Amino acid sequence: MKSNASIFMLSQLTYRSAEKSVPPHAVTIALEAKIDALVSLMTLEEKIGQMTQVRHFDDIKPKDIKNKHIGSVIHTQGGKPGTSAKKWQKLFKSLQKKALKTRLGIPLLFGVDAIHGQNTFEGATIFPHNIGMGATRNPSLVEAAGKITALEAQATGFNWVFSPCVAIPYNEKWGRVYEAFSENTNLTSELTTASIKGHQGTLSDPTTVLATAKHFIGDGATDFGIEGGDCTLSTKELNQHLLPPYQAAVAAGVGSVMASFNTLSKKPMHAHKQLITDTLKNDMGFDGIVLTDWKGYSRFGENKIINAGVDMVMAVDGDLDDFQNGLKAGVESGKVSIDRIDDAVRRILRQKFRLNLFDNPYALKSLRKQIGSPQHRAIAKQAVRESLVLLKNKKQTLPISKITSKIVVVGEHANNTGLQSGGWTVNWQGTKENYKGATSILDGIRKQSEGTVVYDKDASAQHFDADIAIIVVGETPYAEFFGDIGNGKGTYKLNLSKQHKEYIKTYKNKVKKIVVLLISGRPLVTTTQINLSDAFVAAWLPGSEGDGIAEVLFGESNFVGKLPHSWPKFIKDCQKKYGPNNWNNSIKPLFPYGFGLQYKN
Ligand code: BGC
Repeated sequence: MKSNASIFMLSQLTYRSAEKSVPPHAVTIALEAKIDALVSLMTLEEKIGQMTQVRHFDDIKPKDIKNKHIGSVIHTQGGKPGTSAKKWQKLFKSLQKKALKTRLGIPLLFGVDAIHGQNTFEGATIFPHNIGMGATRNPSLVEAAGKITALEAQATGFNWVFSPCVAIPYNEKWGRVYEAFSENTNLTSELTTASIKGHQGTLSDPTTVLATAKHFIGDGATDFGIEGGDCTLSTKELNQHLLPPYQAAVAAGVGSVMASFNTLSKKPMHAHKQLITDTLKNDMGFDGIVLTDWKGYSRFGENKIINAGVDMVMAVDGDLDDFQNGLKAGVESGKVSIDRIDDAVRRILRQKFRLNLFDNPYALKSLRKQIGSPQHRAIAKQAVRESLVLLKNKKQTLPISKITSKIVVVGEHANNTGLQSGGWTVNWQGTKENYKGATSILDGIRKQSEGTVVYDKDASAQHFDADIAIIVVGETPYAEFFGDIGNGKGTYKLNLSKQHKEYIKTYKNKVKKIVVLLISGRPLVTTTQINLSDAFVAAWLPGSEGDGIAEVLFGESNFVGKLPHSWPKFIKDCQKKYGPNNWNNSIKPLFPYGFGLQYKN
C-alpha cells in the first residue's frame, strides 16, 4: 500500500504536467484539489503546526520542527546565522530539511523583516525607506527595488518578506512614518501595487518572495500617532483613506497581510472579524495568509483572533506552547470550528504551492553573489537621487559648482552610514556605526568636488573660510514605538535637537552659503532652520547609497522628488490628534503635499 506521502507526491506530478498545458483556471482547480488532498491527510496537530511561526533561535529546540509540526520560521532581531550568506542559507536549509523529513514533508516558509532591502544582512543593498520611495513617485523604481529585495532575501535563505507597510500616517509623531510611502492614499496604492509586483513576480520563480501588506488596519492613524494605540476614524474615513492600498495589494495578488497592533474604536484589530474576515477575505477576495504581529495570540485575545480570521500566529517569546495547546483545546471544545482551521491551513498551503516550495524548497546558492552587486546598488542610488526633495534654493545656491575652492561638511550624519539609514538597518533599531558596503554623504561630496573638502563633525572646527557649508542634521535611528513622540516612550521630538540647531547657527553669517540636508524619517518642524538656510533639502533615510546625494547637489541630476507628506509649520500643529495631512484643511502646512523645487534649465 502507498503511504500518504507518496499519494501526495503523485498528485504533485499531475499538477506539474497540467501547469504547462492548460489554461490558468484549470491550474487553479488543480491547485485547490491538491490543497484539499493534503489537508485531508493532516491531523489536528499538523494543522495547528502549519499555523505556527517561530524564531529559529530562542523559541524552538532542534526537534520542534518535527514534534511541533512548525509551518514557518521568522528571522528578526536576535541571533544571526553568521556573517556570510552561505551560513544564512545553510541554517535555513538545515531547518527545511527537517521539515521535509516529517510525515507529510510540507516545506517551511522563512520570513524576514526586509523593510528597505534585505536590511537584516550586513552587506545587502539598502534602499531609501519607503517615505523616500514615496517622494520618488516612481512605480517602476519601487518595483525594481522590490525585485532586488526579493532576490537578496532569497540569497540569504528567505521566501517571505514582511513588507510593504501600506499605512497612511495621519500624524508625523508616529514612530513608523518612514515605513509608509505617503500620507496620500492614491500614491500609496499605486506604489503598493508596484512593490508587490516587484517582490512577488510570478512567485514560482526562485528569485521572488511572498510579500506582506501591513499592518491591517489603522496602524498609522491612531490618535496622536501612538504605535499600537486606538484609531478612532469613522468607517467612511477608513474606507476612503486606509482600505484602498489593501484593495490594491489584494488585486496585485499579495500573499499575506499582517494584522495590526492597534485597536479600532477600542477593539483589537487582531480580533476584528468584520474587517479581517468580512471585508478583507470575503469582500475583497483575499485568498492569502493573515499573519499576527509579534505575540499576537497572547496579546490580543487568543482563540478570538483565530475566529476573527487570523491564519498564522507569530508564536514568539514564550507563546509557542500556549498557542498550540490553547488552539487545540479550542477546537476540541468546539469554540473554534475545524472549518476555520482548515481554511487557515488551506491559505498557508496555497502560498507554499504558489511559491513552488514543494518542488524547490531551498534557496538557490547562485544568488549569493548578487547580494550588494553594482547593478543593485545602481538602482538604489537612482532611488536616492529621485527621493531628494528641494524645499528652498535661494538665488540658486544649488547646484554647487564642482570648482568651489573650499567646502565644509558639518555634522555626524554626513560621515556615518548607520545614521543616514534609520531603523531596520542591520539591527531592528538601526545602527549608529558605518556598515558594510555603504557609502556616506561625505564620500559623495568628496567624489564630486574638485576643490578642498573639509569635515567638521560637530561644528567645533569652525572652518569659516569655506565658500559653502553643507550642514547635515537629522534624527537618530529608531524603529516602532521607540520613534513615537509624545506617549512618554520616545525621546525624539518633532524638531531638531538643540545640538543640530547650533550647527546651523554656528555657520550662519560666517560662511557665505549654507546648504542644509535633513536626514529624517518624517517631516520635522524646521521653519527656523529653513529660514536660516540658503538651500534646504529633505533627504529622508537614503540607505546604503549615501553618495548618490552629492550627484544631485552638484547638478549631475536634477531634483525630481516631491513631498510625500505635508510639511508642518509649527510645533503646535503637531500636538493635535492628526498632523497637517493634505486632506485636513484646518491646518496650513509650511509646504503642501507634492511640493518640490527643481533646477531651472
Ligand atoms: C512589527 C512588525 C514586524 C514584526 C516581526 C513587529 O514588532 O510591528 O512590523 O514585521 O515585529 O519582526
